[in-house]
Amino acid sequence: MLHKLIRRKPERQNQTLAERISHSKKEHIPAHIAIIMDGNGRWAKKRALPRVAGHHEGMKTVRKITRLANDLGVRALTVYAFSTENWKRPKLEVDFIMRLPEEFLGKYLPELIEQNVKVVMMGENETLPRHTQAAVEKAIEQTKDNTGLVLNFALNYGSRAEIAQAMQKIGQQIQAGTLDYTDVNEDLVSKHLMTCDLPEPDLLIRTSGEVRLSNFMLWQLAYTEFWFTDTLWPDFDESCLLDAVESYQNRNRRYGGLKGEEKN
Ligand code: FPP
Repeated sequence: MLHKLIRRKPERQNQTLAERISHSKKEHIPAHIAIIMDGNGRWAKKRALPRVAGHHEGMKTVRKITRLANDLGVRALTVYAFSTENWKRPKLEVDFIMRLPEEFLGKYLPELIEQNVKVVMMGENETLPRHTQAAVEKAIEQTKDNTGLVLNFALNYGSRAEIAQAMQKIGQQIQAGTLDYTDVNEDLVSKHLMTCDLPEPDLLIRTSGEVRLSNFMLWQLAYTEFWFTDTLWPDFDESCLLDAVESYQNRNRRYGGLKGEEKN
């Protein structure tokens, strides 16, 4: 089981949440955390509740995790709220999820503003229901000058579609003669993705024990550290986020090279 692999250092085992937060802040904080929020349906099933009850509880987790990520000094938090493949789910479930941004932002936008959080979205906006678009647009507008955590909702998002769209934009420029094909490089591709204004994710978290990427940020995750946990998203709390951050802080990132004494 994944959680058995998660061992906190013995000296940290009796620390309070506040002590752990304060300790983490002294170390290297991931600039960008991306999360695949999985397990809402199973959380509900375990309680004999309809699947949508799990999504509703999952919405509350987004609030908790946003608050802590901002407090830790994380620059960006991307949450995978709805994929381009999720339209295949029953209409009732899709309709429910499409109402969640409205409910979330209706309830929590004032506190997000107070916390200096900036709301952005990546995904295909045009095919979202009008009411979902309106809620997100309002939050984006009202938080556009905020300088704290960037809370990026991946909504109607698919990574392959995102990459294909970037290729189209680049192709158009080549066709128009404003770009030479020899100028197409990794940096240029990154600049045409929906994450062009964000740092690359340092840490990817997927909850619920599933160990796959599900068409999420395939380009951006090339050198990201992964953290998988059996915990279902509605049960994922501050302590779980700290587990992931502490694990990240103990990783040895080499980006394909070698570090210090390893070179000898
Ligand atoms: C995957 O769990 C989860 C989703 C497809 C939806 C995620 C949405 C939220 C957590 C709420 C989003 C909140 C806001 C503010 C927009 P699943 O349904 O696949 O779970 P299962 O694998 O247990 O069935």
